[in-house]
Amino acid sequence: MTDTQRVWLITGASRGIGLEIVRQLSASPNNTIIATCRSPPSTNALKALGTSTKGAMHIVALDTDDRQSVQASAVEVATILGNRGVDYLINNAGFNPGGYDRAFTMELDNMVRVFKTNVVGSAHVAQAYLPLVEKSTAKTIVNVSSTLGSMGSELGELYASYSISKAALNMLTYKQCRDRPDLTVISMCPGHLKTDGGGENAKLEVSVGVAGVLKVIKSLTLGDSGKFFRHSGEEVPW
Ligand SMILES: NC(=O)c1ccc[n+]([C@@H]2O[C@H](COP(=O)([O-])OP(=O)(O)OC[C@H]3O[C@@H](n4cnc5c(N)ncnc54)[C@H](OP(=O)(O)O)[C@@H]3O)[C@@H](O)[C@H]2O)c1
Repeated sequence: MTDTQRVWLITGASRGIGLEIVRQLSASPNNTIIATCRSPPSTNALKALGTSTKGAMHIVALDTDDRQSVQASAVEVATILGNRGVDYLINNAGFNPGGYDRAFTMELDNMVRVFKTNVVGSAHVAQAYLPLVEKSTAKTIVNVSSTLGSMGSELGELYASYSISKAALNMLTYKQCRDRPDLTVISMCPGHLKTDGGGENAKLEVSVGVAGVLKVIKSLTLGDSGKFFRHSGEEVPW
C-alpha cells in the first residue's frame, strides 16, 4: 500500500448519498471501498460500481439497527482488510421519518425509530469499528448530520424528531472527539440534496454535494476534530 492509498467504509451505500460517495471514490485506484448496506443481493447499482471500480471494492451486509449485523460486519471487514485499518469511517445510514412533525404532535414511535438509526446505530458502528480505525493512517470518523440538527441556526418548528436525532448525533461527535483526541471525528452536513431522503425539491444534485463532502473530508487534519462542516467547507454552528 502506498502513502496515498486509503480505506473507506460507508454505511447506507445502497442509494442516495452513500451510493454517490461510493461512485465518486470508485474513480480512483487509490481507494479501497467497503460499501455496506442492509441487503447486498438487491443492490444492483452498487454491484455495477463494483465491476467498474478503479481501486478495490467490497460489498458487506450491515444493518446499523441490528447489533449482531454490526458486529458480524466488523469481523468480516477485518478479515477482508488483513493488516490494514479503516482510514475513513462514514456513518451515513440514516433517515428522516418525513412529515412536518412538530414537538407537541410528532409520533413518538417515529422518534424512537429515528433515534435508533441516526444516533444509536452510528454510535454502535463507531464502537465496533474502533479497532480498525485505530489501525489506519487517517483515523477519521465522519457522522453525516444535517444543519437541521444545528441549534445555532434558525430552523423553525418543523421536522422535530429528525432534527432532535441529528442534534444528538452532533453531541455524539463531540463526545467521541473528547474521548479520543487521537482520532479526527467530525459532523458533516451534505447540503439539501436530491435523493429519496432529500426529496425532488432539494436544491442540489447529489453529485455536487458529495463532491464537496469528499473534498472536505480529504483535507481534514486532527485540528478539525470536533467540528461541524457543510459540504462547502464552512463550519456550521452547533
Ligand atoms: N439528502 C439530503 O438532503 C440530506 C441532508 C442532510 C443530511 N442527510 C443525511 O444523509 C444521510 C443519507 O441520506 P440520503 O439523502 O442519501 O437518504 P436516502 O436516499 O433515503 O438513503 C438512505 C440510505 O440509508 C440506508 N439506511 C437507512 N437505515 C439503515 C440501517 N438501519 N442500516 C443500514 N442502512 C440504512 C438506506 O438503506 P436501504 O436502501 O436499505 O433503505 C439508504 O442506503 C442520512 O443520514 C441523512 O440524514 C441527507
